[in-house]
Amino acid sequence: MSGKSQRRPLVSGNWKMNLNHYEAIQIVQKLSYLVSKDDFEQVDVSLHPPFTDLRSVQTLIEADELRFVLGAQNCHHENSGAFTGEVAAPFLAKLGVRYVICGHSERRQMFGETDDVVAAKVGAVLVHGMTPIVCVGETQDEREAGQTLERVTGQVRGSLAGRTADQVAGIVVAYEPIWAIGTGLTATADDAQTVCQAIRRTIAETWNDDTAQSTRLQYGGSVKAGNIAEIMDGSDVDGVLVGGASLDPDEFARIVQYPQHSR
Ligand code: PGA
Repeated sequence: MSGKSQRRPLVSGNWKMNLNHYEAIQIVQKLSYLVSKDDFEQVDVSLHPPFTDLRSVQTLIEADELRFVLGAQNCHHENSGAFTGEVAAPFLAKLGVRYVICGHSERRQMFGETDDVVAAKVGAVLVHGMTPIVCVGETQDEREAGQTLERVTGQVRGSLAGRTADQVAGIVVAYEPIWAIGTGLTATADDAQTVCQAIRRTIAETWNDDTAQSTRLQYGGSVKAGNIAEIMDGSDVDGVLVGGASLDPDEFARIVQYPQHSR
């Protein structure tokens, strides 16, 4: 089997620096009423709260046997040491975290994360048995200069440098055009598909075709209930990374339930 049918869709909610642990619990409880068992049969759903909420959300997920999967937004690449204010991958693994976002554009832009830094984080996440969601994406200027594919595929190679084919087969890459994040602007479904196809081709060329067919690719950037079905139509788009709309449980539940609204 190859192609989209073998890859389970993954809808991820990136809460960014929003919601304290009390608010997090309320949102997850509300989501647990809105998202049904049948929805989880079709879609994997990961939630990425701030670090300070992780323990509370983990406890709730485990106590109520919820099928939301716990995610984090970042980690440090070292296992421990003199890195004041940082959080190591093994600490996240111990909390039941399964997905870790690596190299989100906000971290690349505001906290100076290069492809080398992201590659080290990806390695740490994998070593501790979790799945990295590796973010790539071009700026508005790069897009206007016609450099989107070059930029994005370069980031894929750089951020996944040193990884084996087996490792790459299990990771998630999120294509997030920077100009579309938090702006209300969305790449067209065709653009999202074109870039995801180029990412898959790059993985096939750098590793091999089987690997490329297994890697899950997400689109992110102003995803809402109203545009997800169209975006998910792309044959290389296996999921979405949702920021702003994941803070509203009704909206996020509708996003998760996109298969019901698909044409
Ligand atoms: P947005 O954010 O949905 O608010 O555009 C996406 C992201 O940054 O992951």
